[in-house]
Amino acid sequence: MPLEDANRPGPPSTEVTPPLSRHAALQPLSREHMGGLIQARNLKRAAGAGPAARRRAVDDFVRMWQTEIREHFDDEERLLLPLTRDPALRGRLVAEHEALRKLAARCEGDPRAVADDAALMERLGTLLHDHIRWEEREYFEAVQRDHPESLAALLGEAGSMEARRPGSRARTKLRIDEPGRNTTEPTP
Ligand SMILES: [Fe+2]
Ligand SMILES: [Fe+2]
Repeated sequence: MPLEDANRPGPPSTEVTPPLSRHAALQPLSREHMGGLIQARNLKRAAGAGPAARRRAVDDFVRMWQTEIREHFDDEERLLLPLTRDPALRGRLVAEHEALRKLAARCEGDPRAVADDAALMERLGTLLHDHIRWEEREYFEAVQRDHPESLAALLGEAGSMEARRPGSRARTKLRIDEPGRNTTEPTP
C-alpha cells in the first residue's frame, strides 16, 4: 500500500516500509512519515467527532510532535536543505515547516482551544498530510536523484536518528489499537 493510502479507513499495514528505491540515508525519515500520516489522519477524522475524541487526537499529536516530529523537521532542515538548490523546493519545505510549527505551538499552548476548533484540526491534519506526501513524491526524490554522493556521507546521521527516535527504525512496526490512538511495538 503506498503512503498516500494511509488516509483511507483501517489500520496501516505494509506502508510503514519506505519505497525500495529510497536511499538508505533517507529511510529513517521516510519511516517516520508513516507516523506523521497516522497523526494527520487521526486529526482529520477526529475533527468531525465528539469533544473527547477531538481532545484525545490533539493530545496524541502533541505527544508525537514533542517526541518525534519536531526533531524530524529540524533534521530535514539541517541535513537536506544544504543539498537542495532549487529555490522552489527550499521555499516550500521551509514555509510548510513554519506553518506546521505555528500550529503545533498552538496545540501545545492551548490544546483544549484547538480541540474546540474543528476547522483548525482539519487544517492541521490536511497540511501535515499534504506536506508528507509532497516530501515523499517530490522532495526526497529530488534530493536522492541530485545528491546521492552527499547522502552517502549522511549515513551516520541516519543511524543517529534511529538511535534517538524509535519510529525511524526498521524493526518498528506501527499498530493501531483503537480509533484515534496508535502505538508502536518492536517486531520480534
Ligand atoms: Fe518536512
Ligand atoms: Fe518529513
